Amino acid sequence: MNEVLETIFERRSIRSYKNDPLPEGALETIVDAGRWAPTARNEQELITVAVTDKAMLEELNSDFSKEGFSKRFGDGFNFYYNAPALILLFGPKDFPFTDIDGGITIENMALAAQSLGLNSVIIGCLMGYLDTDAGKKWFEKFGIPDDFKFVISIAVGYKDKDTPKRDRKPDMVKYY
Ligand SMILES: Cc1cc2nc3c(=O)[nH]c(=O)nc-3n(C[C@H](O)[C@H](O)[C@H](O)COP(=O)(O)O)c2cc1C
Repeated sequence: MNEVLETIFERRSIRSYKNDPLPEGALETIVDAGRWAPTARNEQELITVAVTDKAMLEELNSDFSKEGFSKRFGDGFNFYYNAPALILLFGPKDFPFTDIDGGITIENMALAAQSLGLNSVIIGCLMGYLDTDAGKKWFEKFGIPDDFKFVISIAVGYKDKDTPKRDRKPDMVKYY
């Protein structure tokens, strides 16, 4: 199997991270892998926000919890699993391909992280909080225009523990 296929098949969502920061240049490489994803009509409208500032990540997690979004996950839940880096994507609300562009971009980032020996988990649960009035604080902090929405994010770091492997459903593919 070639390295690209190995990277695809080996990637798993990781939900427990060490404190160790990413190696020099890794965050920029992962962000760049996202920037080079194809976008519909080549619009390239997504805004990428990369956060490694621990205080900022903790504040975002605390806001997320305060607004009641972590209730279903239990006490002390940390939505980015204490990973040292979180990358968020925002895109225009009125562009029909914003979500698809975001999905393609975030998977490029997940695979780039995997190829660099790092781990990741794609995080969508922020959506409920960031798209409320309370979440507007973060749009202002990050300088995101009002006509944009949060699309998706990814936490990246070195795994502390494995997450149980999730298998794929059989019989969801048809060949003719
Ligand atoms: C759009 C999207 C949103 C996701 N949101 C979350 C999330 O908020 N929290 C989380 O722990 N995992 C999240 N995941 C990870 C999925 O749960 C995970 O990819 C799935 O269970 C399959 O496991 P695997 O990635 O290890 O193959 C998300 C994945 C995708 C594609």
